[in-house]
Amino acid sequence: MSFEEKKFHILTIDDAQTNRIMIEKILKDAGYTVTSVSSGLEAIELLHEGLTADLILLDIIMEEMNGFETCQIIKKSKKAMAEIPVIFLTAMSDIEGISNGFEVGGVDYITKPFQKVELLARIKTHLKLKHYQDQEIEQTQRELIYTIARITDVHSLETGNHIKRVSEYARLLAILAGYDEEKAEIFQLASAMHDVGKIGIPDAIVNKPGTLTDEEITVMQRHPDIGYEILSQSTRPLLKASAIVAQQHHEHYDGTGYPRGLKGKEIHILGRIAALADVFDALDTPRSYKKRWESSEILAFIQQESGKHFDPQLVELFINNFGRFKKIRDTFPD
Ligand SMILES: [Fe+2]
Ligand SMILES: [Fe+2]
Repeated sequence: MSFEEKKFHILTIDDAQTNRIMIEKILKDAGYTVTSVSSGLEAIELLHEGLTADLILLDIIMEEMNGFETCQIIKKSKKAMAEIPVIFLTAMSDIEGISNGFEVGGVDYITKPFQKVELLARIKTHLKLKHYQDQEIEQTQRELIYTIARITDVHSLETGNHIKRVSEYARLLAILAGYDEEKAEIFQLASAMHDVGKIGIPDAIVNKPGTLTDEEITVMQRHPDIGYEILSQSTRPLLKASAIVAQQHHEHYDGTGYPRGLKGKEIHILGRIAALADVFDALDTPRSYKKRWESSEILAFIQQESGKHFDPQLVELFINNFGRFKKIRDTFPD
């Protein structure tokens, strides 16, 4: 989403009611949505409860907990709140106060009384900065994920656009299942990592042309847990989601899958979606030992596996929107 299209939410913290009313009006007139509170404690509580904000305007002199203390707590949090830019509103024009503000993690300050134009200009500057930084981070994550996925692919001699298609199918299934664009993108990227654990399986087994022996199958079936091991070290939402996909993409809805034999909704929705996306692409792709299945054969098989291998609700969405999945297939051929 571009900066211009995005709706921004601002959290203002000021203990003087007249200030709150004035700031709120200025911000709302400028098109922002606003949450306005009278103390640092209240703000921190709301943020802990999951309130999200794109920017914080923070008064410095407040009773109970002043602005610096409030900022320090927010910035030291392990949660997403730590990354919200904080602009101080200060009546103090002394240098000490200002440098204090930067030390505790503020990005800017505005001295009261301020001009409306100045307030809005500074807010916009910092929202823009944050927006472009976020975009840069997200873009880097996206590229890294596809790079890691490609490494697995090369290792397992998986050809062409398998990873790309599986992630696009997962994205579409997420949208059809009612997730918003942002969540759907997590499904998409996480699904690209489904077979990362194959990195830990010997080449001779991963690339064996013939059928695997029972012993080799046991080794091969370790790849979900290996993938989980690799990815679960991170606290980032995207990698956490990837870890779930890696571990659960071979679970079956009826509990006959591996590695844990999870059943029904015990399997995370990320795992259920990746399972369907992965199998559909395998059926729709020719391999050395099999031809590409006809659409009618694919539909019949997936229908037949509803409630067995796959989540029935996802099967229904898939079948009702089959044309859209085939279109992705055509967009990313091998
Ligand atoms: Fe796999
Ligand atoms: Fe796959």
